[in-house]
Amino acid sequence: MSTTAEGAAGQADVERRRGGFSSRRVFILAAIGSAVGLGNIWRFPYVAYENGGGAFLLPYLVALLTAGIPFLLLDYAIGHRHRGSAPLSFARLRRGTEGLGWWQVAICFVIAVYYAAVIAWALRYTLFSLDQAWGDDPEAFFFGEFLQVGDPGVTADVVPGVLVPLAIVWLAVLAIMALGVQRGIGVTSLVFIPVLVLAFGALVVQALLLPGAGGGLDALFTPDWSALTSASVWAAAFGQIFFSLSIGFGIMITYASYVGRREDMVGSGLVVGFSNSGFELLAGIGVFAALGFMAQAGGVAVGDVATGGIGLAFIAFPTIISEAPAGALIGVLFFGSLVIAGITSLISVIEVVISAVRDKFDTSRLTATLAVGVPAAVLSLVLFSTTSGIFVLDVVDHFVNQYGILVVALISMLVVAWAVQALTGLGDHLNVHGRPRVGTGWRVLVGIVAPVGLAIVLFFAIQTDLEAPYGDYPSWLLLVLGWGMVVALPLIGFLLARMPWRAGTHLDGPPPGSDPAPPLDPAPASTSGTRPGTVSEEGGSR
Ligand code: ALA
Repeated sequence: MSTTAEGAAGQADVERRRGGFSSRRVFILAAIGSAVGLGNIWRFPYVAYENGGGAFLLPYLVALLTAGIPFLLLDYAIGHRHRGSAPLSFARLRRGTEGLGWWQVAICFVIAVYYAAVIAWALRYTLFSLDQAWGDDPEAFFFGEFLQVGDPGVTADVVPGVLVPLAIVWLAVLAIMALGVQRGIGVTSLVFIPVLVLAFGALVVQALLLPGAGGGLDALFTPDWSALTSASVWAAAFGQIFFSLSIGFGIMITYASYVGRREDMVGSGLVVGFSNSGFELLAGIGVFAALGFMAQAGGVAVGDVATGGIGLAFIAFPTIISEAPAGALIGVLFFGSLVIAGITSLISVIEVVISAVRDKFDTSRLTATLAVGVPAAVLSLVLFSTTSGIFVLDVVDHFVNQYGILVVALISMLVVAWAVQALTGLGDHLNVHGRPRVGTGWRVLVGIVAPVGLAIVLFFAIQTDLEAPYGDYPSWLLLVLGWGMVVALPLIGFLLARMPWRAGTHLDGPPPGSDPAPPLDPAPASTSGTRPGTVSEEGGSR
């Protein structure tokens, strides 16, 4: 056996141990499951409404096509070519960039810890929907009886109504993770994504049949064209696309590393990107149809009932459920969809951490799941099942999204495009099996347009936070859990990068077999089943 052949065989063995998705279809469902999350169902409708309604769709589409999908393809190319978790893929891209991968891992750990809490609330509210436990005042119920909110700060007063569903969410997630990439993540996505589409589709139909639904859709889609001249509207569109597509923080790199080497990653990216946006639009229609009903029933304007974030999901929706015909069904469909969409996103977030630990320390799947999952679950229970949980969650969510995800995304894009100058190699990798082919246009979008878009988003975010401290929280809370946390994450990342890799890890460059020779005639897509240069190449993860 030649050295190259031995290297490829050894690499196939490593990949078999890492695990992988059994087919491209499973990968696409898992990637859609990651992208479609809590952000699609309650964040998009509100952001779109606040930023010009129908007119927002234009900047949204521009952001999707110029930054979202190109950057999604970049993540796919890095993970698929370098066949590792985010830190390993970056280390193979260029040794000095490994810290970027660990920074992404640290961000994912933080997100996982609080994301689980929102899923736990939704789980509890799925049951509350059956008997409308919130009574006449859903707002007082949410903050009072349910969360038992105290003063802003950090307390140790446990709220059993949150503790129990949160423990259930973590047990379910750890069980899925322990089962592995295909049997855990893959099978969960295969089952849950069709269920989510059916449940949410039924919810949208039900919402559209409510009296006043048309008024809600008018409010959402009536364009305020003047919004297009506002830079903050464009910034909101770029921010929504990055959060929603799960790009820039290691998830899509990790998932792509589990895909067979001969799969078309460009076509997959287009399917994932457009499915995510389709779901987002569906969520906008469903949520605003329901808000139109609520506004008509209360004799007020839609603008008065369309609150953002947590308020929309856990206060406005219970009101709708109490007043609408078949309200219990609407409640179960809405909160059940939140739970499903949340779980399929949470498993992708926590997989970034598990996969990195496995690659670095060569542990078994179970050991890595416990080593990552138990501390994450304990921290989540300690921080979020207390009377101060909602404040901590709000601050951490705001800062990790604005200055965690967006900053690491911007820096990694600049490093890959300009410092390492890897775009040509990564584009060539995508083109070996991917269609449509990516070329100069893609490199311009990833190397210039997307970073400029992100830089503008960040500029506005920082300006807003400096003008008015976020949420009127005590400054120590913002300094420790906000600014302090976002500064600590890259430091932790670069410290972790200094730890040695397990013996025998292939670093510095794509592992053997990653870059099969391109087709002899690179221009047209091959129509035969087998392409020259790929016959003997077989991803161990398939
Ligand atoms: N992309 C996931 C969401 O939208 C994180 O919630």
